Order: sequence, then C-alpha cells, then structure tokens
Amino acid sequence: MENSSVRHKACQLSELPAGQCRVINHERTYITVMRHGEEVYAINDTCPHLGGSLGAGWMTDEGTIVCPWHGWEFRMSDGEGVWPAGIQVETYPVQIEGDDIYVTLDEATESSTEA
Ligand code: FES
Repeated sequence: MENSSVRHKACQLSELPAGQCRVINHERTYITVMRHGEEVYAINDTCPHLGGSLGAGWMTDEGTIVCPWHGWEFRMSDGEGVWPAGIQVETYPVQIEGDDIYVTLDEATESSTEA
C-alpha cells in the first residue's frame, strides 16, 4: 500500500484564541486542534481509555490536555501520556500559512479509524 499524506484545512488562526481548542473531522477521524500560547497542536480527539473527546476536556499551563471523562492527561506536543504514563495518543503535524491552520494526516491514520 502506498503511503501518502493529505493536508486538511482545520480552521483559521484568528478563530482559535490561546487556551482554546476545536474538534475537526476528516473522513471519520476526529482531531482536536489546540492553541497553547503561540503554539498550535493537533491530537487525535478520541481518548484511548474509553473514547472520551479530548477536545471537550481542558488544557493545562504545563502543556497537557485532560480528558473530561476520567482525567487521563496527555502532552499536547507529542501525545505522550502523563497520567497514566506509557499511553500514547496520535499527534499530527500542523502548518500555519497566513491565517490558515492545516493538519497533515497520513493514509495509515485514516484507515486505522475504520475498524
Ligand atoms: S475516556 Fe478519557 S479518561 Fe476515560
């Protein structure tokens, strides 16, 4: 299978104030796009615990996002589990061009959500 990627326009930077996030949907993959200070990150929205929406959770000053259901916590920059440790959430490259925010997904990412 050929490994290709697709760039998805997420939203406008001006629509995403610092400290806020937005959940986008690209072909049944839900992605939380978050702005923490001047940085913008994208992480898979589905919590690996029981499927809560990370985008409905909250961001911390330490650069993590907390699931609203049971409090699992992940680093925004790389999806590494802070609590509990050893759990990983997929993250996606973000590009900002002017006021547009793009997220890049690879084909394997898209097909893995269809099981
Ligand atoms: S579903 Fe996210 S912590 Fe349980």
